Amino acid sequence: MNHKRSARLFDKAKELIAGGVSSQIRVNEPADTPLFFTHAKGSKMWDTDGNEYIDYIQGMGPNLFGHSPDFINEQVSQDMENGYVFAAQFEQELEVAEMVLEMIPMEDATVRFASSGTEIDQLLLRTMRGFTDRKKILKFEGHYHGWMDSVNWSVHPSIAEAGPEDSPVPVGESSGMDQATAEGLVICQWNDAKLLEKAFKKHGPEIAGVIMEPILANTNCILPNSEFLDAVQKLCKENGSLLAFDEVITGFRIAKGGAQEYLGVTPDLATYAKSMAGGFPIAMIAGRREIMDLIGDGTVYHGGSFNSNVMSISATYASLKHIQTQGDAFYAELNAKGLRLMEGLRDVAKSLESDLHVQGVGSVFAISFTTKQEINNWRDHARNCDDDKYQRFAYAMLQQGIRLSSNGRIHLCSAHSDDDIEKTIAAAAAVLPSL
Ligand SMILES: Cc1ncc(COP(=O)(O)O)c(C=O)c1O
Repeated sequence: MNHKRSARLFDKAKELIAGGVSSQIRVNEPADTPLFFTHAKGSKMWDTDGNEYIDYIQGMGPNLFGHSPDFINEQVSQDMENGYVFAAQFEQELEVAEMVLEMIPMEDATVRFASSGTEIDQLLLRTMRGFTDRKKILKFEGHYHGWMDSVNWSVHPSIAEAGPEDSPVPVGESSGMDQATAEGLVICQWNDAKLLEKAFKKHGPEIAGVIMEPILANTNCILPNSEFLDAVQKLCKENGSLLAFDEVITGFRIAKGGAQEYLGVTPDLATYAKSMAGGFPIAMIAGRREIMDLIGDGTVYHGGSFNSNVMSISATYASLKHIQTQGDAFYAELNAKGLRLMEGLRDVAKSLESDLHVQGVGSVFAISFTTKQEINNWRDHARNCDDDKYQRFAYAMLQQGIRLSSNGRIHLCSAHSDDDIEKTIAAAAAVLPSL
């Protein structure tokens, strides 16, 4: 498979665009050069050199129905005839709010819309501090909540820099970050009830809220253990801190009601983005009315020119309508597909005596290389997973026409066919011996 034209275009891109890309992770695409694509439809993408791929990046998650589904194209092209950005209200926005509130488990909740996961998580942090009149947010290592200074700490820190297990130090993910923002955070290990208790013992009265990915999609796609899940709810309650789920990946992807439904836990606040609009940019915060009223009356300020623009609301409307029409069967099918792929990869790994490891929930899961049965949090991943081997695997899979993300996360979409799944398993069987 050659990527000559992509390589030439990337040389030109580097002259025009910093690093040749518009989001840093794109430099890491497991290929000999960041690829340029001409078009994408359903589960497939085609690059500028004419190569075809089965795509498991799916826009880093948003393309729940695959690339460019007809039903979204039709709805959006019809609605955008009426205008793009009103900077005002319109009825479809209300319909979408009604639909999401029907789908997610939170009761007596209200919502606000925005455009990206990063910005809605900023609103989330501000709301938690505003409601409790406290300064600190408890954040876990290995969790990603966008690239802003306030929270882009200790996402994937090196163990050498991250400090002791029971009192980690915040490690910034970028140079140029405002160091003072680290003082607003308490960093903790995820999935460890005892360490969480210790953190609350030390900082409890200062903690406005806990932010977490309810299923840790940004590190090995890890499920929380029940002891930890109980502890986080209990400790928040006892200490008057809010519990917030960042459902930017899990929301509308793993179940109609996202991780809340899957885990049977209702947090005080939750954020959503990615899958909601089937590929169009949207984000949403949902929360208990009493808390959201602070946003409502402007005490906690929230703005944004592109919030609730016609195209994004229209795409969300089409997406949620599609899911509602299909009912529970939509998620049953999507997750079954993912579980089939997970099982197929496990079987191949077993028969080839490979340490390829899969963990997750079907519609989203992670591939890593480890001999451990299960990875429990970021430090567990850092100590026990061979990330270089994963990169070699992803590179080899690309040569077979399978496009995997550099971070190991696999996103299923409803357009992935049985044939796609079989081809992916066969490709893994072909490349694993060479690693
Ligand atoms: C859990 C989580 N929260 C927030 C974000 C940030 O979202 P966005 O890339 O839309 O800014 C991401 C992005 O991957 C994410 O995975």
